[in-house]
Amino acid sequence: MGRLSVNLCGIELDNPVIPASGTFGYGYEFAELYDINILGTFSFKGTTREPRFGNPTPRIAECTAGMLNSVGLQNPGVDRVIDTELPRLAKCFHKPVMANVSGFSLEDYACTCQRLDGEAQIGWLEVNISCPNVHGGGMSFGTDPAQAASVVRAVKAVTTKPVLIKLTPNVTDVAAVAKACEDAGADGISLINTLLGMRIDLKTRKPILANTMGGFSGPAVFPVALRMVWQAAHAVKIPVIGMGGVSSPEDVLEMMMAGASAVEVGAANLVDPFACKRIIEELPGVMDRYGIQELKELSGGKCHG
Ligand code: SIN
Repeated sequence: MGRLSVNLCGIELDNPVIPASGTFGYGYEFAELYDINILGTFSFKGTTREPRFGNPTPRIAECTAGMLNSVGLQNPGVDRVIDTELPRLAKCFHKPVMANVSGFSLEDYACTCQRLDGEAQIGWLEVNISCPNVHGGGMSFGTDPAQAASVVRAVKAVTTKPVLIKLTPNVTDVAAVAKACEDAGADGISLINTLLGMRIDLKTRKPILANTMGGFSGPAVFPVALRMVWQAAHAVKIPVIGMGGVSSPEDVLEMMMAGASAVEVGAANLVDPFACKRIIEELPGVMDRYGIQELKELSGGKCHG
């Protein structure tokens, strides 16, 4: 066990760095660039019960220190993920992978999770109740503690693997949602998903995104994310994955000092496909600078303010 290793819901990770869902495909695309086995794990593209084409374009808008996306959960559907994407991944990634799951009803979530739970390489289910880009599902489950709890119960009833619930920042009391998930039986939580945002094209005087609004991510959201990770981590005892604007080893350490057991890296992968590799390689030097011998000292340490 190295000085970067951490434990996430009973599974040991070589390091806490996890490419976030939607920024790393189904993994094998990045395996063409570097050996992705250096990662702690990664969370694959949000998968739904049926294939989805996603929202109309344009669905990306650049912003200062970040970006908006309104992808709309484009994915090939759970059957194709099991038949095609996972076998392809198994050839180049030899660790447990995190399955990210979205849905539009309790039945959807339960069905997709149950199918993926049977796949040997899947270590954790990350259940996304926070997508801001779809109607009648996604974020609507994550903005109400009772609804969030009902998703947890539906999924836990049909799965055996650790279930982490991915939370939205678009709420006033993230701690209440986190606690409701824990009370309903979640094994962990991850946060934050994107912040609801919008841009207008000055020439057309219309929204840039065809879907009008989208999710804002990137370095600009880091302090908001860190605050919410802190609040959630202090409200629950289950492990927390921190994410939101993480782009450096220093950000990883801050997230862990706020209470995260592991850290997801999202938008940074879209700017630099080697971002996670760089963060992992630079982590030991930055730990030395701050007198941190092992990450386990920090992991979920919940430093007190
Ligand atoms: C999307 O596909 O719209 C992004 C996923 C998310 O924000 O949860």
